[in-house]
Amino acid sequence: MPVYSISHVENVRVCVVMVGLPARGKSLISQKIVRYLSWLSIKSRCFNVGSYRREIAKDAVIDAEFFDPLNTEGLHYRQQAIDAAIFDMMKWFTEENGVVGILDATNSTRKRREMILRLCRENHIEPLFLESWCNDKELILQNIADVKTTSPDYIKTPNDIATQDFLKRIEFYETVYETMDTAKDANLTFIKLVNVNSQIVLNRIETYLESRIVYYVMNLHIKPRSIWLSRHGESEFNLTGQIGGDANLSERGWRYAKKLPDLVLKSLGEELKHTNLTVWTSTLKRTQQTASFLPYKKLQWKALDELDAGECDGMTYEEIEERFPDDFKARDDDKYEYRYRGGESYRDIVIRLEPIIMELERQENILIITHQAVLRCLYAYFMNVPQEESPWMSIPLHTLIKLEPRAYSTLVTRIKADIPAVSTYKEKGTSQLGEAKTGELIFKSRDLINNSEEAL
Ligand code: ATP
Ligand code: F6P
Repeated sequence: MPVYSISHVENVRVCVVMVGLPARGKSLISQKIVRYLSWLSIKSRCFNVGSYRREIAKDAVIDAEFFDPLNTEGLHYRQQAIDAAIFDMMKWFTEENGVVGILDATNSTRKRREMILRLCRENHIEPLFLESWCNDKELILQNIADVKTTSPDYIKTPNDIATQDFLKRIEFYETVYETMDTAKDANLTFIKLVNVNSQIVLNRIETYLESRIVYYVMNLHIKPRSIWLSRHGESEFNLTGQIGGDANLSERGWRYAKKLPDLVLKSLGEELKHTNLTVWTSTLKRTQQTASFLPYKKLQWKALDELDAGECDGMTYEEIEERFPDDFKARDDDKYEYRYRGGESYRDIVIRLEPIIMELERQENILIITHQAVLRCLYAYFMNVPQEESPWMSIPLHTLIKLEPRAYSTLVTRIKADIPAVSTYKEKGTSQLGEAKTGELIFKSRDLINNSEEAL
């Protein structure tokens, strides 16, 4: 049976047109939207005009004056850059069946926005303008320090000079900037974020897909925080190689549970050891037992329960191969899509995890204790792991993972408890459990990954 996503139901294509002065988080928001929608299997891509400009004007001097609206050479290059980005985006919509394209540029004048609007209308694409408006001087300086002084525009430029030049660049943009306005832009579909999300203006949000994007963006915040992920401690079912069920922890699993508070404290560091965090578990005994020694507020989520294996619940992989050989093979062939008889697929988990992701974006420090398949799906969201790889990632027992979202990347730290546990990893093409070969490698390489594209 074909699997439908939001885009199939509505048959709409959306161009998210970013609007705002430099250093207002437009690229960061664009990348997050692409990551979120891709995780939900909605084909999305960001077209960053800064990268086009750098390629097209690679022989030009890029300093603040380049962005002076009276600089004809600069204007010429910038026009070429936006034209090339729009051309590629339209091609992507038609030739690759793109669903959500993001045009990441300042798009700071009405004239520019009208040009984009006209092109979208001609191509039957819904334009959604997304403005980030911000006058918080400290935040802007912080943004410049975080991402702009290290941008390819300032290679070999000392930080203080880069900062001054970038502030001057912003001043040039300010001379022509026209913010979105519910009177002047009454006919447009737009969302305007004011000082991150202290105020949000919505205008003519019409389609379901637009409302999903808007709802996601409304929930984003930029406060520093960490997210910890852990599987439950080793369970009695893990010892016998059975899947699913609601077993108790094994003796070694209980040892992990007792050690977990210490691992969390160590990962917080001395200066943060009084930081408050909330623990989320599934409704199954093994995650709650694992959380039982943690001195923090706890919440149970049904959505964090392990993949439902339906008729195969409680079996070993060997038993499944013997009783349902076709299913066993079908699952190995397409593990993401395969749905257990009377149970779930990885895709089903992603769909039920969506509210968890939304809530995680709103929250600050959260420790999630859940299960192998669910943890893979959560990890895939944060680290942008493709669907074909995520169900094969190796996420060993008795290991705490700490994720620290940064401007364009997520730092990953893995803290292994020195408590042995069985492996629950099954390689493709076998029913035997063992240490992961490929999966472990994927996981390790993602540890080092910086999931950013270019900042500018
Ligand atoms: P440019 O136009 O120069 O490409 P930009 O608007 O794309 O700039 P980013 O490169 O995305 O800016 O800036 C990233 C910084 O913006 C991060 O430090 C991030 O914390 C911060 N940021 C994220 N969201 C917002 C927001 N809504 N308002 C202001 N700053 C934000
Ligand atoms: O100045 C920030 C920036 O992202 C540049 O790197 C890029 O060339 C430009 O904005 C794109 O926007 P515009 O279309 O206004 O030139």
